[in-house]
Amino acid sequence: MRLALIGTGYVGLVTGACFAEVGHHVICVDNDPAKIKLLQEGGIPIYEPGLKELVERNVAAGRLSFTTRTEAGVQASDVVFIAVPTPPLPDGSVDLSFIEKVAREIASAMTSYKIVVDKSTVPVKTGDKVAETIKRYCKAKVEFDVVSNPEFLREGFAVEDLMHPDRVVIGVKSPRPVNTMKQVYAPFNAPIIVTDINSAELIKHASNSFLALKISYINAISVICEATGANVQEVANGMGMDERIGRRFLDASLGFGGSCFPKDLSAFIKIAEQVGYEFGLLKEVQKINTVQMERFVKKIADTLWVLKDKKIGVLGLAFKQNTDDVRMSPAIDLCQRLQKEGALLRVHDPKAMEKAQAVLKDVTYVGDMNAVADGCDALVVATEWDEFKKLDLARCREAMTHPILFDGRNLFDPVEMEKLGFIYKSIGR
Ligand code: UDX
Repeated sequence: MRLALIGTGYVGLVTGACFAEVGHHVICVDNDPAKIKLLQEGGIPIYEPGLKELVERNVAAGRLSFTTRTEAGVQASDVVFIAVPTPPLPDGSVDLSFIEKVAREIASAMTSYKIVVDKSTVPVKTGDKVAETIKRYCKAKVEFDVVSNPEFLREGFAVEDLMHPDRVVIGVKSPRPVNTMKQVYAPFNAPIIVTDINSAELIKHASNSFLALKISYINAISVICEATGANVQEVANGMGMDERIGRRFLDASLGFGGSCFPKDLSAFIKIAEQVGYEFGLLKEVQKINTVQMERFVKKIADTLWVLKDKKIGVLGLAFKQNTDDVRMSPAIDLCQRLQKEGALLRVHDPKAMEKAQAVLKDVTYVGDMNAVADGCDALVVATEWDEFKKLDLARCREAMTHPILFDGRNLFDPVEMEKLGFIYKSIGR
């Protein structure tokens, strides 16, 4: 099939590359000429495991190309996916101006029947607005269908999630686009659920809010564990064995972040408010997340007594492992909170140092994870990178003024750490 992806960010680029990988002809469109030039020259603007190889292979096979011209993408394709950002506004609601602009651009480029698919995360009822806009701005007055097809990819595992989806949600107003959409997804062999557009849009916000709720739930349990001497990992393992609960997303941490959960929670609370429902449960999820970070900072401050002029090493800047994304990263938030108290930071991340430099100033960026601890009064794990588990702990211990480790991701074993001579404090254990 011939597909266009409008918006070549995390979602658009990875989705486009995966569609090409299963044999579709894909044009990725973006209005950022620098990004398109980089892609045309073989560069990749983001770090995502497996993406570079996927893009290279499909560009070479002639199935994947890049352009700044929406018109070119729309006219060459049967199905046009909207994958542009939907950032938060100051009041927590969603800025839909990119979606509206792209809907107008698609409308004016359309000269024959098209299926226009919204892949971006949008509030319920956006599909109606997109359809209205296309109808208004389509000079050629051709027929079209609007479909809601939310993405469920996790950054850092985006290629894997897209190639092997748990489910594909297709929200439609009429049966006309269903077969074509099923053909687009047939090669992925995933269960497909066809719903109305409003339900499809709600599935996305309801799913992400539920996952955030799951994390806040285990983080709340971690507080009780700390107060009673229980171990939150053992509690999570025991809970997770119940198939109705499941073990995933029950890892206690210093809090969740990223470009999705915080934004989608605020948006969903706002959407509920607009239909007259106060979603107190989700407000509590947000509160627990903020308190979890405050508790972690307090733990560091209580142990070191005074933070001013203390040297602290921070491992991890990305909002989670396997990504270079630092948007709404708890690790960056932590660094800034420590800096506010006067601490001097030495920081490292395997992939996110470049992106972090734009938002985190006046710290020492260290290339070697084992050298972060040099001369430090404490070491902090802020992101759950697997490679941090291979840290040369004996070297770190010797290089520190005093071996104190705060583990915001429960990467290490408390008993082992104590044996190694560390004062070790983690989450809920
Ligand atoms: C999320 C959803 O998982 C995905 O389905 C959706 O399409 C986009 O939003 P993403 O933001 O990429 O994906 O990251 P995710 O893996 O969900 O993690 C979000 C945050 O929660 C991270 O900061 C992560 O470290 C944290 N987290 C996750 C925990 O603290 N504990 C957990 O058990 C899981």
